[in-house]
Amino acid sequence: MTADVRPLDLEPVARQLEEDLLARWRDLLRTTSFIGGAEVQSFETSFARFLGAEGCVGVANGTDALVVALKALDLQPGDEVLVPAFTFFATAEAVVWAGGIPRIVDIEPQTFNLSVEDAARRIGPRTVGVIGVHLYGTPCDLEGLQSLCAAHDLWLLEDAAQAHGARYRGRCVGTFGALATWSFYPSKNLGCFGDGGAVSGMDSDRLARVRSLANHGRTAHYHHGEVGTNSRLDALQAAVLNLRLPSLVDDNRRRAELVARYREGLAAVGDLTFLQVPQGTESVYHQLPVLTGRRDDLQVHLQGLGIGTGIHYPLPLHLQPALASMSDGDARPVSERAAETNLCLPIYAQLDEAAVDRVIDAIRDFF
Ligand SMILES: Cc1ncc(COP(=O)(O)O)c(C=O)c1O
Repeated sequence: MTADVRPLDLEPVARQLEEDLLARWRDLLRTTSFIGGAEVQSFETSFARFLGAEGCVGVANGTDALVVALKALDLQPGDEVLVPAFTFFATAEAVVWAGGIPRIVDIEPQTFNLSVEDAARRIGPRTVGVIGVHLYGTPCDLEGLQSLCAAHDLWLLEDAAQAHGARYRGRCVGTFGALATWSFYPSKNLGCFGDGGAVSGMDSDRLARVRSLANHGRTAHYHHGEVGTNSRLDALQAAVLNLRLPSLVDDNRRRAELVARYREGLAAVGDLTFLQVPQGTESVYHQLPVLTGRRDDLQVHLQGLGIGTGIHYPLPLHLQPALASMSDGDARPVSERAAETNLCLPIYAQLDEAAVDRVIDAIRDFF
């Protein structure tokens, strides 16, 4: 009996890090530096250096990173922010939580990233900015978005939660927008063993505001210049990230190798297609979706053979009940089709070739 192929298995990483991590966590128990301290500082510095960013501020998770970044960009009640229809819910949720209104934009069929053309159509008098999500680890059209923002006096916020190490024209994402936000949720390419997040950017004044907002708007001990919140990266999680960051490039390379194997094995099979990675961009393949009109049947077939898959995402944002009161009633046809046809195959750096070949054979048999 062969073992199941899971869509993601964190056990090998946990095992690999166990000894070094326990040593670091033991030190933390001795020094009791649980909030802030050397682990957090060291991660913020290393991650900013890795990105080529001016700085990085650790926060509690990727959703808080978005909320705090939006506040640092001076979002005012009733301001509108363009967001893609096809992303994790938090991208729009954070806009609402920060007092704004998400204006939902359709996506490009080749990448499932935000369509700059549709974004341009949806700009109104209250629009103040755009959130560009690098979905599945593939950079969105940063040049197109930067031109759009320059033409309409909007800011660009990058939601880089799925794109640790992805590059656009040779430069890491997370250094293009007015700010960029990160999630270190365990399943991410750079994940911790709990919740974690960060905001990166090129403007040290704005990053200082992020740091203050994430720490109760504090200016000095028990002095508060504005109303913020409590959202800090904790030292136990920063220790995990410090241990994982040095392998991120190799882990991403390994994902790319496995994707190449999948692509070769699944070329011209049934109606199956892959998304494109535009020229001049490097994806880090956080997810590997294949698209097929027979998605649901294929998922059941694979499940029957012990192969787990995921659907990211089954419902676009403009159809989410939570956002119904802000809906304009328009269809976003590309996002709706994306939700019906995507099936994300197992992909993570510790997956072996034999497992990939098993998935390929099972899909070929189905068609
Ligand atoms: C695109 C995107 N934005 C935001 C988030 C929110 O991150 P977190 O789960 O750390 O709050 C996620 C993570 O799941 C995400 O994938």
